[in-house]
Amino acid sequence: MRNPPPQGIRLADYRPPDFLIDSVDLDISLHRSKTRVVSRLAIRRNPKGRPGAELTLDGDGLVLRRLLLDGASVAAEATPDALTLHATPDAPFVLEIETEVDPAANTQLSGLYRSGSAYCTQCEAEGFRRITYFLDRPDVLSVFTTRIEADVAEAPVLLGNGNRIDAGALEGGRHFALWRDPFPKPSYLFALVGGDLSHISERFATRSGRMVDLAIYVEHGKEKYASYAMDSLIRSMRWDEEVFGREYDLDVFNIVAVSDFNMGAMENKGLNIFNDKYVLASPETATDGDYAGVESVIAHEYFHNWTGNRITCRDWFQLCLKEGLTVFRDQEFSADQRSRAVKRISDVRGLRLQQFPEDAGPLAHSVRPNIYHEINNFYTATVYEKGAEIIRMLKTLIGADDFAKGMTLYFDRFDGTAATIEDFLSCFAEASGRDLSQFSLWYEQAGTPLVTVESDYDAAAKRLTLSFEQSTPATPGQSEKKPFVIPLALGLIGENGDEIPLVSREAGAQECERGLIELTTQKRVVAFENVGSHPVVSLLRGFSAPVRLAPPQAAEDLQRLLAHDSDPFNRWQAAQSLALRSIFARIEAARGGPAAEADGPFFDALGRLVEAPERDPSLVAQALSLPSDIDIAREIGRDVDPDVIFSARSGLRRDLGRRLSAALADARARLVPAEGFSPDAGSAGRRALRNAALDLIAAGDPGQGGALAERQFGEATNMTDRLAALSTLSLLPGEAREAAFEAFYARYAGDHLVLDKWFALQSTIPEAETTKRVAQLMEHKDFSLANPNRVRAVVGAFANGNPTRFHALDGSGYDLLASVVLELDPKNPQLAARLLSALRSWRSLEERRRKLAEATLRRVLAAPALSADVSDIATRALG
Ligand code: PHE
Ligand code: ZN
Repeated sequence: MRNPPPQGIRLADYRPPDFLIDSVDLDISLHRSKTRVVSRLAIRRNPKGRPGAELTLDGDGLVLRRLLLDGASVAAEATPDALTLHATPDAPFVLEIETEVDPAANTQLSGLYRSGSAYCTQCEAEGFRRITYFLDRPDVLSVFTTRIEADVAEAPVLLGNGNRIDAGALEGGRHFALWRDPFPKPSYLFALVGGDLSHISERFATRSGRMVDLAIYVEHGKEKYASYAMDSLIRSMRWDEEVFGREYDLDVFNIVAVSDFNMGAMENKGLNIFNDKYVLASPETATDGDYAGVESVIAHEYFHNWTGNRITCRDWFQLCLKEGLTVFRDQEFSADQRSRAVKRISDVRGLRLQQFPEDAGPLAHSVRPNIYHEINNFYTATVYEKGAEIIRMLKTLIGADDFAKGMTLYFDRFDGTAATIEDFLSCFAEASGRDLSQFSLWYEQAGTPLVTVESDYDAAAKRLTLSFEQSTPATPGQSEKKPFVIPLALGLIGENGDEIPLVSREAGAQECERGLIELTTQKRVVAFENVGSHPVVSLLRGFSAPVRLAPPQAAEDLQRLLAHDSDPFNRWQAAQSLALRSIFARIEAARGGPAAEADGPFFDALGRLVEAPERDPSLVAQALSLPSDIDIAREIGRDVDPDVIFSARSGLRRDLGRRLSAALADARARLVPAEGFSPDAGSAGRRALRNAALDLIAAGDPGQGGALAERQFGEATNMTDRLAALSTLSLLPGEAREAAFEAFYARYAGDHLVLDKWFALQSTIPEAETTKRVAQLMEHKDFSLANPNRVRAVVGAFANGNPTRFHALDGSGYDLLASVVLELDPKNPQLAARLLSALRSWRSLEERRRKLAEATLRRVLAAPALSADVSDIATRALG
């Protein structure tokens, strides 16, 4: 395994490559354990490189078989990690390199590996160097031609990047296919697939009339599960033409679903390779959440064709250039396909669940990091999701029109290049005439800003004065922070529930009157005039910036927002904030503080939402789902005790379920599903509310709820309803629960994606016995460390989704994680490192758990022969 330099790799040390590779001709002869790779590289000196520099190609675990320069043998130094030519000609030359690789032994799932009976590749970020020696860096763009050869019986399907230009039979039961991708690309976008696969296909006419053959390849028998992915692909292609003016550029677009994949999917040029979780869906096997996941990941990878492939990244520090932007694009797509408000709420939930804790702990890093030890550990919620929030703020600040102009400029100017964040921002500065240097701090400074707001209403003067202040906590390597540009969208709600028009005499009044305050300094005071009745401020509408707000608003104010705010996001936020208030009061009361404040008005407000048939059911379902344990822990901030949080949250659920039981039962009756299944947003919303009601009924009355859940489990005609029933049952100890788990297993024994749900649900049962149960699940005949989805379903779900057990006071949860991480590390270090990052918030725990967690991290770090991936996470987590 390769060892990155101990001092790390720094953005400040970036240098252009000394050599360029204009074209690559690959000849790959597939064999399970001895795949032969011949690579012909057309190399020349880069005029921007260091004159006279020697040529060093990257490798990772390679064995050199043969090396020729312009057809003649040449002296070189070959190690598994590098191929160095001390002397090279001044004129362009061709290097021919033969290596041999063993796909069957590749358990890291990076490079060329086998998944099921197929061969596939994964080259981002640094997997290509596990196939052949290369300048494996994103700023070296080459035209790739790939000849793939294999046994016809073993791999009748042979796929590569670009268009297929030749294919044919060979002697000895072999055959070949020749693929050529005319678009210069970095090696991380290379891919090939060989296997015995089925496919479904469609034709797509781009708006300028190019006919594109679309195909999705799956295991035999799974074709019928790929149709929603195909439908999503076609909608994505149309949407990118309509909204971003981007057309597809090759004659074919292929997607392949594999079951062993470290991430969600990969945007290889013309040949996207997917974790099959994001391709396969049917009413019987996929939940509404799974359908939404397929739609968004299909869109995401497709959108990379422009943001990532046609314009790629100069270096891996610029990862957010393609990822943040592409997440923004896929979020907008999903918002247009479904309910924009519900999409925004679920994206913000995700951001707070994943990115806020990352930003508040020892693994915090800026959206564009300036140092890394292991790039694989930077495919994070910060780079992806906070990266998308930055793009959204940019659009808010400069307006939709200038944003669109800036995007067009970016596509025109940087097509075919490897770009930087500076390149990107320069297009928007030019399009809007605005100086974006302060805005660029969002890329440089880590940590979640805290915005405090004091409001002062002068009834006599009819004036509301708002005083804003921003501060950002210190993060590793960044103790002092400069003020950010923070777009704060806001409105005022009067006593009668109406929106109060915004009138301001401030400098920048125009923005203020549009309801957008730009906080660019540490403090700012803004006054609004003609405010006739005592207003409530609806702040951070639509979650206009990735910040935290303080202090908490008063219960009555939140009630007003919940009932009247015209901004659906803030109505939902008001319910969350009210729930948080209640949970804090319960925690105080449990510690012997004053009795918890009465929740009656809050519960009744939720009850009115449940009863109002005109409300969007999916929004009501969101309002009913309380802040997660992680949300609550974040608000508490320090000395976190997961048991205390759990019992306060459970108490709230119980009381809410009791208070609303009649309304919830009525809603369930009203929402009885129509015949047949449709994954559309409206139908999904009705299912979501019906199942949220079931869950709360059971929280209030386990007997009644359990009976309802058992019935729904037996009668369900789709996975959403069946899994929801099982999830409700999973919280009710007893025989019915165990019988349901057995029945579920028996019914879906052959379907690995459904079994992942079965595993994950058991791992998250918040009961003392669960840790033992997880250990048993790892002995189950269907468990395997070789399959990332399965490991995530069992161990990931336990560590990230079962806080009381994972943080058990006897240390058993941490022990379990550490032993899996250490066993997995030699096989799949990327996955092991990701699992270990479940400990990233250890410093905010109360003392006993903090000590246990720290000892666990130290024990992992002390283990022999640790991978760079795991040791990087452990070191930074402790740092
Ligand atoms: N680039 C992929 C995506 O976001 C993610 C990925 C990274 C996949 C690294 C595999 C390896 O779409
Ligand atoms: Zn991506």
